[in-house]
Formats: sequence, structure tokens, C-alpha cells
Amino acid sequence: MDRSAAALACITSVLLLLPPPCASDDRLVTGKPLSPGATLVSDGGAFALSFFSPSTATPEKMYLGIWYNDIPQRTVVWVADRGTPVTNTSSSAPTLSLTNSSNLVLSDADGRVRWSTNITDDAAGSGSTAVLLNTGNLVIRSPNGTILWKSFDHPTDSFLPGMKLGMTFKTRVSDRLVSWRGPGDPSPGSFSFGGDPDTFLQVFVRKGTRPVSRDAPWTGYMMLSRYLQVNSSDIFYFSVVDNDEKRYITFSVSEGSPHTRYVITYAGRYQFQRWNISSSAWAVVAELPRWDCNYYNYCGPNGYCATTRRGRLPSRRASASQGSSRRARRSGTAAGSRVVAGGRRRCSAATVSWPCRG
Ligand SMILES: *[C@@H]1O[C@H](CO)[C@@H](O)[C@H](O)[C@H]1NC(C)=O
Ligand SMILES: *[C@@H]1O[C@H](CO)[C@@H](O)[C@H](O)[C@H]1NC(C)=O
Ligand SMILES: *[C@@H]1O[C@H](CO)[C@@H](O)[C@H](O)[C@H]1NC(C)=O
Ligand SMILES: *[C@@H]1O[C@H](CO)[C@@H](O)[C@H](O)[C@H]1NC(C)=O
Ligand SMILES: *[C@@H]1O[C@H](CO)[C@@H](O)[C@H](O)[C@H]1NC(C)=O
Ligand SMILES: *[C@@H]1O[C@H](CO)[C@@H](O)[C@H](O)[C@H]1NC(C)=O
Repeated sequence: MDRSAAALACITSVLLLLPPPCASDDRLVTGKPLSPGATLVSDGGAFALSFFSPSTATPEKMYLGIWYNDIPQRTVVWVADRGTPVTNTSSSAPTLSLTNSSNLVLSDADGRVRWSTNITDDAAGSGSTAVLLNTGNLVIRSPNGTILWKSFDHPTDSFLPGMKLGMTFKTRVSDRLVSWRGPGDPSPGSFSFGGDPDTFLQVFVRKGTRPVSRDAPWTGYMMLSRYLQVNSSDIFYFSVVDNDEKRYITFSVSEGSPHTRYVITYAGRYQFQRWNISSSAWAVVAELPRWDCNYYNYCGPNGYCATTRRGRLPSRRASASQGSSRRARRSGTAAGSRVVAGGRRRCSAATVSWPCRG
């Protein structure tokens, strides 16, 4: 049955008040769990959801994840049970099922719950479906169309087009991307990427609780919007959105664009990656830390870090005698006064620069 025929059958069954036979392969309904080996594929074919084993460890550790369905290199963008892998046994298999209370529940081979969406909304009721959208977002949708839960609200290490990564003013809680522990280990690693809930103004790569590197502030000319047009069908747009409750970053790509994501890698690099169709590999278009000034506290407390040209490392020569920048003077620091570690860092004025606040 092709899609339009399936849709027609679905509409017909709704008209006839029959149970809909529209449980197609992009969704999960109550009573029809997903087991290892079976896969949900989004309508459009961009994403897949299934169980996977990222390593060759024995006993086999299986995770439930979402990855790109239409590229040859498996690139996982979301993992449900990061810290609690399940194993497939010869007698029984783990399952992902949708309960009567509209929760997705991941049970191990013994039937123990290892992960759940934990929706407590009493109004949730039954009759919902879990659908893998073509954006890579897994959603639980109530019969009237209300979205009860979405994986985009619970990111792992990847930030995808349409996702919102933000900070809630009232609770001072900041969304975080958390790296994998290693190439074959999706359990939470030591690196994270997210906003600073104290200032709401900047984003950090952290190792544990320690800031390692930070991006430009979330406000101001550098970050308000970023726009990249490769050609008429490949456009990327990044924005910072502010409302009364939340400030968040989001980005979108046009219909014809290749797969695009931001990811915090297990090695602690925050990368902007695009899939290169001709080389069939991920291209790292940008990453943080980009150059030494991105390292947190590189110039010491109240130091002022500078790069001579965007994308290049700062001069490695001693430059204590460099003229001080007006901005550094205004903030009460003498530029160049933080030439440390043998005077090899350049912490003074230049064309593209921002303060290294301690
Ligand atoms: C999981 O185990 C079942 C047997 O219980 C087997 O049929 C199935 O192929 C296994 N799946 C995977 C993905 O290993
Ligand atoms: C879920 O709902 C169906 C139909 O309403 C019912 O037959 C089934 O027993 C319920 N299952 C549980 C676990 O409550
Ligand atoms: C669901 O609740 C359990 C128990 O409170 C908790 O351990 C688990 O982390 C929660 N799961 C999610 C996805 O929030
Ligand atoms: C839709 O359903 C949800 C829960 O299933 C409920 O909370 C919400 O009020 C409903 N919305 C409308 C417009 O009926
Ligand atoms: C636009 O650029 C992408 C690569 O980014 C390429 O795959 C595509 O063919 C280009 N489209 C046109 C209309 O040139
Ligand atoms: C894609 O890969 C090809 C072949 O390696 C290379 O020539 C091209 O510059 C790459 N394109 C982008 C946008 O990185």
C-alpha cells in the first residue's frame, strides 16, 4: 500500500468509525511494541529509530536511538536510555512500548522498566501515538493532535534544525547537550554545551562543572542571527529568540539543504557539521574552541584576549608592549598586562576580539 492509499484507508476508517489501520512504520501505537531488529522510519525517510549496539562489548549493550536513515554512516542524534543499556537475550528481547497513559516505556528483556517518558498529565489518556517526524523529533501525540512529549525537549549530544536550546529565566535552568563518553559509549560523558544560567548571555563548553571554552555572547551583533546561503536551495538561518520566560537559540535549514547538526563530541569539541554528499562524509564547518581566545580564562582574570584575524590563532609572540585597547582600558585592565606563561600569549588589542572574563 503506498502512502496515499494508506492515508485514504486511514480517512475511510475514521469515517466508518473503525479502528484505524494507519499504524504505519513511522509510528508506534499502544499494544504494538518495538523490538530489536524493527525500525521506525520517518515519513520522508530522513530519520530512523531503533535499537542499536554502538560497541562490540559482550554481553551486547543495546540502546534505543534516532539516527539519519538516508546516509551510509550511522550517526546517532538521540539516545533514550543513555545510562541504562539493555541486552537482548535468546529467550526474550527488550521493547519500546506506548502505554495506555500515553507514556513511552523502554523495558529490558525481563520486563523491567529502564526508561520512561514520565508524562504525568492526567489528561493524557489513551489513544495516543508516538510518531518519528522527518525532523528527527520523536513525539507523543494525543488523539486531538496535542503534543504531549517530544524528544527535542530532551536533547542528548546533538542540536538539530528546529530544536530550541535555551534557558528558563524563572527556574534558572539551562538546556544542555551532553557528550558521549566515548565513540562506542553513549552514556553521559564529561563535556557539555549550554548557556550560563547566571547571566543568560553566553554559552559554554564545560568539562564537568568547569567552563572550558565559550562562544560569543548570545546577544549583540555576533549572535543575533547568522545567515548562510550556499545557493538558492541551501540556506541556513540561526537565531536567538527571547521571550518573557525563556531565551533560546534555534536554527533552520531550507528544504534542499544537506543534513546539518551541532554536536558536542566526546573529545569536548562543539562542532557544526554538514553532510557532504559528494564525499559521503561529515564536514566540520566550524567548531569551538576555534582559536585560543575561546579557551575560558585564557588571559587570566580580567584579561583581554585578541586575535588578529578571525579563524587564526592569536599571535604567539610576546606583545606586552602592544597598545592597549580602548575597551580594555574602559574595563580597568591594562591591555597586555596578562602576558603570562613566558609571555607567549597575546592579550591585547586587535581587529576581532572579546574580553576574556575570569
Ligand atoms: C534479539 O534476540 C532475538 C531472540 O530473542 C533475535 O531473534 C533477534 O534477532 C535479536 N535481535 C538483535 C538485533 O540482536
Ligand atoms: C489498555 O486499554 C485497552 C483498551 O482500552 C485495554 O484492553 C487494556 O487492558 C489496557 N491495558 C492496560 C495495561 O491497562
Ligand atoms: C522518569 O522517572 C524516574 C523515576 O523518578 C527517573 O529515574 C527517570 O530518570 C525519569 N526519566 C526521564 C526520562 O526523565
Ligand atoms: C487535547 O487532549 C489533551 C490531552 O489528551 C488535553 O489536555 C487538551 O485539553 C485537549 N485539547 C483540546 C483542544 O481539546
Ligand atoms: C546547492 O548546494 C548543495 C551543497 O551544499 C548541492 O548539493 C546542491 O546541488 C546545490 N544546488 C543547486 C541548485 O546548485
Ligand atoms: C565535499 O567533498 C568534496 C570531495 O572531497 C570536496 O571537493 C568539496 O569541497 C566538499 N564540499 C564541501 C562543501 O565541503
